Amino acid sequence: MTEFIRRQLGTLMASAAITSGIGGNGAAAQDASPDERAEEVERQLTDNERFSLIISLIGAIPLIGVPRDRRIPEDVTNMSAGYTPAIPRLGIPALQSSDASMGITNPGYRPDDNGATAFPASIVVGSSFNPALARDGGAAIGREARMRGFNIMLAGGVNITRDPRNGRNFEYYSEDPFHSAVLAAEAVNGIQGEGVISTLKHHTLNCNETNRHWLDAIIDLAAHRESDLLAFQIAVERSQPGAIMSGYNKINGEYASGSSYLLNEVLKGAWGYKGYVMSDWGAVQKWEYALNGLDQESGIQMDVKQWGAEAFTDRLRMAYAEGKFPKDRLSDMVQRILRSAYAMGIDKWGPAPAVDMAKHSEIALEAARQGIVLLKNDGALPLATDKPLKIGIVGGYAQGGVPTGTGSGAVLPAGGYAGSVNIGGAHGAMGAARNLYLLPSSPVAELKKLLPQAQIEFDGGYTPAESALLARRSDVVIAFGIRVEGEAFDLPDLSLPWGQDAVIEAVASVNPNTIVVLETGNPVSMPWRNKAKAIMQAWYPGQSGGQAIAEVLTGKVNPSGRLPITFPENLAQTPRPELPGIETPWGTPTTIRYDEGAEVGYRWYAQKNERTMYAFGHGLSYTSFSYSDLKVGGGKTIAATFTVTNTGSREGADVPQLYLTDAPDGRRMRLIGFERIALKPGESRVVSISTDPRLLARFDGAARQWRIADGTHRVMLGKSAQDSVLTAEATLDGRLFGG
Ligand code: BGC
Repeated sequence: MTEFIRRQLGTLMASAAITSGIGGNGAAAQDASPDERAEEVERQLTDNERFSLIISLIGAIPLIGVPRDRRIPEDVTNMSAGYTPAIPRLGIPALQSSDASMGITNPGYRPDDNGATAFPASIVVGSSFNPALARDGGAAIGREARMRGFNIMLAGGVNITRDPRNGRNFEYYSEDPFHSAVLAAEAVNGIQGEGVISTLKHHTLNCNETNRHWLDAIIDLAAHRESDLLAFQIAVERSQPGAIMSGYNKINGEYASGSSYLLNEVLKGAWGYKGYVMSDWGAVQKWEYALNGLDQESGIQMDVKQWGAEAFTDRLRMAYAEGKFPKDRLSDMVQRILRSAYAMGIDKWGPAPAVDMAKHSEIALEAARQGIVLLKNDGALPLATDKPLKIGIVGGYAQGGVPTGTGSGAVLPAGGYAGSVNIGGAHGAMGAARNLYLLPSSPVAELKKLLPQAQIEFDGGYTPAESALLARRSDVVIAFGIRVEGEAFDLPDLSLPWGQDAVIEAVASVNPNTIVVLETGNPVSMPWRNKAKAIMQAWYPGQSGGQAIAEVLTGKVNPSGRLPITFPENLAQTPRPELPGIETPWGTPTTIRYDEGAEVGYRWYAQKNERTMYAFGHGLSYTSFSYSDLKVGGGKTIAATFTVTNTGSREGADVPQLYLTDAPDGRRMRLIGFERIALKPGESRVVSISTDPRLLARFDGAARQWRIADGTHRVMLGKSAQDSVLTAEATLDGRLFGG
């Protein structure tokens, strides 16, 4: 236990003592529901206390030039992204929030914190198609949060991936709203199961980073409900997150953080959401957002940096004094915050749970194992472990570790990075934070462990000519391709940086046994694809990523990941071959038209009859699976059963996927169910899927309800969105439902 953690435990015990002496409002309130408690305690607050709860302060972060704010008491040492002072007389604990989805981050807030478990990126968890894994990771993150005294995790990135250039796709789960919602909800359930509030973020359509604070995302209202909003809606229902974080961008001309339509009408109205809405850091320009449904201004110093002033402090107080901001609304904001605190029990924390870092490391390893996707294999894999092969490993800093994405989600691992190189860039505050970070799990070292008979040589991939020298004298080449993606940047194209495509081309041209391992947060163009004998997508695989890569390459682990985003042939196939605003300086107002509406990703390619490079849902195994006996029932929704059999000679996991392909009101493709199942050779299992009816419906904007068309609906059971194995039909009753 480090000195830092020991001090945090001390602080926690002290705050537990404060909260157990809850005093005047105590006994009755302790048995009451979170709503009742929130109402009762809110009534006892002074206005000063109320105003203190609706903001948070970011800790000192020298990397992006934020000094320590004098409003943060000096004895607070566990600084992070957000601090809201306690109100001890009423047992309200300080609110302390941290990023989040891939582990507890620390871009400099806590100089003596030795680091946390660096889990694989969310897209890796998305690729596992395994909700239980998302939950395990969430629970581990929740425990590491508690051990530091953090009671709010800024996790649950559920934006759907609309654009393969988006720098933050690695922080999200997939291009499909249902899949994203299921995985994000389990991650949130894992965190909240440890008594820590989690957000779902960034609400909504924060799908590109280019000029994100000035980005106006244009979308049809009904299509929005069927896509990005549906992901939030399902995830909210499945996890009841204590908070929602609003996005930076505008939607149809109005900032998401100040949109009464999004926050009051849809989230709190139609969906009945009872938690609170916090802004993203630097997303609040006006105090009026409070009228439109925003409950808390986060990291208020970031609004000063971004927009020149804080919104929910002096300006909101002035509006209150002038009667422009009603007392009821202030009370509602505070009650929502308190309700989430009470619902998650953050005021009743006892001692932090024991944290088993070795176990967390296992969870990170297992997530990487299940999330690595084998894209192509012409017999090169698994590598023979019993032969004295000469293996040349090329590039990707594979001698040192595995890369991770950058920005607020980057996790400093226990023991520190294996390496870090600043890349820089002029993209607002985050430019300085764009780094190539290497997590210390070296694929070269791990391969040496698993291939003791092999002769392994490493070449840094410095020039094509130099790498080709090693490739020529090797039996097998494993070439690594990496890319630094992250917050505040979109990539202008799908190439690998630093001339890596040329290096891979060179080695694959001289050695026909070239295997390529990609460690990127997005699809890349792979101009050398036909020359590679095998291609593996390892994404940002976290602190045990090198081991997981080596295990999959050598067959110790049978690959089972499936792509949660489509790999297009090229950008011309995508809805926006040109990315609006990419050529402009940071800060240029930009309009992005999401004209594809709800037809995101595989849905778009199906509609356009485009064959993609690797389809959504695609992923190879070292065994094979067959599907049979597809039976589909109709009526109110589609219920399907089918049998999956492992027809190969190795144990493995498969992810059968059920899609709607056609409906009476129009041809369209929707993932309506999936299940990850592990099977021994020869083993069969019957899978049952009952579809969320909203996935079969269209959103009727006039009725503000979902509408299923009467009649025949066609489905297919497939191995990917473009690999249909069995088809069937069901008749559904036409109806209008939900909201
Ligand atoms: C990001 C959020 C993050 C917040 C706090 C922002 O820059 O967009 O995802 O939670 O910072 O670190």
